[in-house]
Amino acid sequence: MKIMVIGSGGREHAIIKKLKSNKEIEKIYALPGNGGIAKDAVCVSVGATDIEKAVEFAVNEKIDYAVVTPDDPLVLGMVDALEEKGIPCFGPRKNAAIIEGSKIFSKELMKKYGIPTAQFAVFDDAARALEYLKTAPVPTVVKADGLALGKGVIIAFTRQEAEEAVKSMMCDGKFGKSGEKIVIEEYLEGPEVSVLSFTDGKTVVPMISSMDHKRAHDGDEGLNTGGMGTVAPNPYYTEAVAAECMEKIFLPTVEAMNREGRPFKGCLYFGLMITKDGPKVIEYNCRFGDPETQVVLPLLESDLFTVMKAVTDGRLSETQVLFSDKNACCVIMASDGYPQKYEKGFEINIPEELEGSVFVAGAKEKDGVLLTDGGRVLGVTSVEDTLAKAIESSYEKVKKISFKNAYYRKDIGARALKAKEG
Ligand code: AMP
Ligand code: GLY
Repeated sequence: MKIMVIGSGGREHAIIKKLKSNKEIEKIYALPGNGGIAKDAVCVSVGATDIEKAVEFAVNEKIDYAVVTPDDPLVLGMVDALEEKGIPCFGPRKNAAIIEGSKIFSKELMKKYGIPTAQFAVFDDAARALEYLKTAPVPTVVKADGLALGKGVIIAFTRQEAEEAVKSMMCDGKFGKSGEKIVIEEYLEGPEVSVLSFTDGKTVVPMISSMDHKRAHDGDEGLNTGGMGTVAPNPYYTEAVAAECMEKIFLPTVEAMNREGRPFKGCLYFGLMITKDGPKVIEYNCRFGDPETQVVLPLLESDLFTVMKAVTDGRLSETQVLFSDKNACCVIMASDGYPQKYEKGFEINIPEELEGSVFVAGAKEKDGVLLTDGGRVLGVTSVEDTLAKAIESSYEKVKKISFKNAYYRKDIGARALKAKEG
């Protein structure tokens, strides 16, 4: 069995490491992969959004199964193109990936089907948006409609900040086409929970919950990033909250997509906020989260490939998906300056005994040496019986790994630990 995984991040590394434990799989290709992934898969230099080349490669190499991981190829329709050539895939088709590809689509879906989310208004005209802001309560949240590398959400604490956000998106074209239309929405408060789920369009199986740490600096200060670390499970996701999410959010979402003629198959990611009025959807993603995957998959006890195939074949209800009752923590080691300006090209030293705990993201290999090559460089993960031990163990590992200008948050999991103890 030959598999290909599209993407090049720590998330893809975590997926590949997990897939490797299936004995049926003889070969895994990563398109394009990275210098660290190269230890676990054959990297092929085809960009993650190059649909034509990916399809050509899959056909020539007689690939048996493709895992399409990042948002942009999914939204562009890579799964449709591969399926047309008879290659089964894990990931939604284009008409379902829109649940992440257009915030306006997802907000209107939730409104139509009564799925709890922040109140909102949609604009395709800057003057109208600015007029609306004159009386809108602050803080308020301004979101670009389309994909914006995770940067298209601006939380505005004053009216002036909100106006600047609207102008940057709609007048200055900060996010190109993605920002031509926007959503302005109610500011919600409460702890955030990420729930990735497997769904074949009929059954939804939530994975273990997790908590991301999106801000660059300790104490949730600084700019928004792709995520600086994660823990799983998330202590705010109690059994009662989980039951409410299943009834009011997860099942209704899958059903809504079916009713719209857009059945979703793959990993549907629910970004939730646990407000005083109950859980509400902050965002949907049509894919595994990064770095959520780096804590969720190490806790998956069932075989990932078996579950993925069951999703593709519509047999999820017959398939066991078991998670360990342990705890996981992933600390992201980034290049100092991320998410803004940073230098790269520095040698990364990972002691051999820690290689199994490290998911490589922004790194390339040159003459046998691993060099930093991006903002988020590594995800260092530990699985332990308790959350406290998982956090401690990840930080012990981080101290043994080095590269110039390495930066990491020192408080990954601290809030979760406090919630657990409190
Ligand atoms: P996103 O890029 O959609 O993941 O949003 C980035 C972050 O913005 C989320 O993780 C939340 O912390 C925050 N956010 C998004 N929407 C809202 C909202 N309506 N109220 C408060 N915070 C929000
Ligand atoms: N960690 C958030 C995301 O993958 O979008």
